[in-house]
Amino acid sequence: MKFFVDTADLAEIRELASTGLLDGVTTNPSLVAKTGGNFLDLIAAICEIVPGPVSAEVAATDFETMLAEGRHLARIAPNVTVKVPLTPDGLKACKALTGDGTMVNVTLCFSAGQALLAAKAGATFVSPFVGRLDDLSTDGMALIDDIVQIYRQYPAIATEVLVASVRHPMHLVAAAKMGAHVATIPPAVIRQLFKHPLTERGLEQFVKDWATTGQSILGEPGEAVQPLRKPA
Ligand code: G3P
Repeated sequence: MKFFVDTADLAEIRELASTGLLDGVTTNPSLVAKTGGNFLDLIAAICEIVPGPVSAEVAATDFETMLAEGRHLARIAPNVTVKVPLTPDGLKACKALTGDGTMVNVTLCFSAGQALLAAKAGATFVSPFVGRLDDLSTDGMALIDDIVQIYRQYPAIATEVLVASVRHPMHLVAAAKMGAHVATIPPAVIRQLFKHPLTERGLEQFVKDWATTGQSILGEPGEAVQPLRKPA
């Protein structure tokens, strides 16, 4: 499963990209508003940091303006993925933009029927919002399961399920078990994924026990390392 980070915060993106674990980035107007920076410059900077798909959402809601905005965003960098809402005009823009060869992420998906429409519109990604469904006591992960199962019936569907509105690590585990293609993850949830008390406790004990050996793998500073295995 591909890991995208769901943020427009450059410092967070730089730090997480340095782990080598990031496959892409998603932003949305709310995340961009939080940064306060110039949107086009921000997307250009993110595309420099992460070579994978970088979602940049149109602001308009009518087809003509969404198409113009999408084409403008696509000119920023080859890895720009234009994000459009799952509306009739949004899917019309999706079809036109994918026809241009631009990647499109159809967002604000909340039903399997909507996901079918996104696939028919040729979306590169569809973003079902699991957290916002959970917030309404509706099983967001059940929607992911439905969409993955439906898409699997039709090998011609190239649209990837991009699990969005992730709230905790178990959303990721469930998404991976269902075979979702991508998850876009808030930075805090990515950090939670690393954590386990037994890992921390085990490492502490390894460090303590190694210290009792009095040895150093790198030897003294400047000491030549004698190769144990003769080079072939
Ligand atoms: O960016 C799309 C989606 O991941 C936002 O989810 O519910 O955290 O605003 P949410």
